[in-house]
Amino acid sequence: MKIRPETENDIAAIQAVNVAAFENDAEARIVDELRKHADPFVSLVAERDGDVVGHIAFSPVTHSEKPELNILGLGPMAVVPELQKTGIGTFLVAKGLEECRSLGAGALVVLGHPEYYPRFGFVPASRFGIRSEYDVPDEVFMAMELQDGCLADAAGLVKYHPVFGGG
Ligand SMILES: CC(C)(COP(=O)(O)OP(=O)(O)OC[C@H]1O[C@@H](n2cnc3c(N)ncnc32)[C@H](O)[C@@H]1OP(=O)(O)O)[C@@H](O)C(=O)NCCC(=O)NCCS
Repeated sequence: MKIRPETENDIAAIQAVNVAAFENDAEARIVDELRKHADPFVSLVAERDGDVVGHIAFSPVTHSEKPELNILGLGPMAVVPELQKTGIGTFLVAKGLEECRSLGAGALVVLGHPEYYPRFGFVPASRFGIRSEYDVPDEVFMAMELQDGCLADAAGLVKYHPVFGGG
């Protein structure tokens, strides 16, 4: 299994992975829109035996009080149903964190499974005083510093890229 940046040839396969994992095309469409509008757009695929079996994306978020903070949002991420819980997601997140760090991102946020993301270092964003535009339970919106201290004084509202549709 190999984790690598997407290429143009992966676009249809990335759509298929997202549709299969989420059982609708909303996330696939978001990925396509992010590809057009987000900068940076970090998009990695997991390839197994020549097939794309997983995908992860990161894109810039905005911070209401500190627009200068370089924060990326994780998502969507997806692994084909038949291979979920076999470690592919873990590889995608690990490589994704590396990639975001190398791009100079100071921190990440994610809106997702509270049982899943803490293993990578995410904690509830509320610990940094960071709120989500979405009305979600506290533990579902998480943040993680990639550079120590980046979120030390980061209380405020964080919004995902507009293509996510806002809250
Ligand atoms: C969530 C998802 C991307 C995780 O990828 P994955 O390859 O299945 O995850 P991994 O195999 O790396 O899982 C590692 C661990 O997390 C656990 N885990 C996986 N998915 C989980 C979930 N949805 N909730 C809680 N724990 C989960 C696994 O049981 C495993 O635990 P273990 O290490 O104790 O055995 C994948 O399950 C998926 O595509 N789900 C449907 C789409 C989705 O929900 N995307 C994320 C939106 S936030």
